[in-house]
Amino acid sequence: MDAMSSAKAGRLLRVLAGETLDPPPWWLMRQAGRYLPEYRALRAKADDFVQFCLTPGLAAEATLQPVQRFGMDAAILFADILLVPRALGQPLEFGDDGPGLERIEERNGTAGLSLAGVSSLDPVYETVRLSRAGLPRDTALIGFAGAPWTVATYMVEGGSSRDFRRTKAWAYRDPAGFAGLLELIGEATFAYLSGQIMAGADAVQLFDSWAGVLPEVEFDRWVVAPARQLADRLKRAFPAVPIIGFPRGAGQLYERYAAATGVDAIGVDTVVPLAEARRLQGRVCVQGNLDPVSLLVGGVPLADSVKAIREALAGGPFVFNLGHGVLPQTPPEHVAELARLLASPAA
Ligand code: CP3
Repeated sequence: MDAMSSAKAGRLLRVLAGETLDPPPWWLMRQAGRYLPEYRALRAKADDFVQFCLTPGLAAEATLQPVQRFGMDAAILFADILLVPRALGQPLEFGDDGPGLERIEERNGTAGLSLAGVSSLDPVYETVRLSRAGLPRDTALIGFAGAPWTVATYMVEGGSSRDFRRTKAWAYRDPAGFAGLLELIGEATFAYLSGQIMAGADAVQLFDSWAGVLPEVEFDRWVVAPARQLADRLKRAFPAVPIIGFPRGAGQLYERYAAATGVDAIGVDTVVPLAEARRLQGRVCVQGNLDPVSLLVGGVPLADSVKAIREALAGGPFVFNLGHGVLPQTPPEHVAELARLLASPAA
């Protein structure tokens, strides 16, 4: 790589390629959103959240807002994982208590769903173009999608869930039928991530927010296998674009996920012990894992947690992030505080 292109790669991409940097590059899951007053003002310009996500001018502005305020090393595309079910033909609404989808029933299988509507995702690619054009050259733009298992839970439960009993029951009772649903989601997701990459996303993250609710055998089948398949296809089509896998809650199965999927980096959630994260770093770049509540609290507890994470993970490829998304109640000043803490080399 020549000097120009390695400068262009920026700090996030260098670390995803295996370099060790101090201070580490950083960004935050859900860094755009309701905790920012400028986001709330912008959000008020669209009637509903889906229309907001599908209006490139608004979504690109939301993508850039946190970077303009705090100078993270990466922006994450402003969109949502549930645009994929909508593109497959499933009606989607966002209410005050989260997303609502017209439930997919086990007895109907994938009837009524198809790839015919994937072009409804085209505005997202325009958001990517506008966002990339508005970012400093050294700031990476991260595209993303939900992993098939997590997306399927929303499609089958009709929204968020506590026990995932409908989705699991389908998967356990009728694995061939459930595999059909995951294949369809996987196909749309490959098209979605390819579109984002072709429009200028520098890296992609696969969010498997509910990876941690499955037993071992089912974890292999419904979390690891679809992620590996997506990673393989993306690597064949876009060998230079790094992939971050985030199988949240995978616990003792993180290592297997990292080994079997071939992702370039792995997002570790807040409860992964730092010694364990350090061990995973022997295999892949690690991203994480500050407790979002530490960021909400700020002050000494924040500084102490940041220090401990950096001490544990500074010795290898590491992206500083949260273990899950920024909480809407987080004072923006605490993110500024975090930026200051991260700007200085480790003591
Ligand atoms: O800053 C960013 O991270 C970029 C944008 C982004 C959003 N959703 C915007 C959003 C990203 C990366 C996501 C991912 C996402 N969406 C996930 C995976 C990560 C995770 O949190 O586990 C999931 C499960 C979803 C589905 C979803 N979208 C839910 C469950 C909800 C309701 C809960 C909530 O936080 O409100 C959403 C809505 C949503 N997605 C909002 C935002 C900013 C809030 C709605 C609003 O601003 O009006």
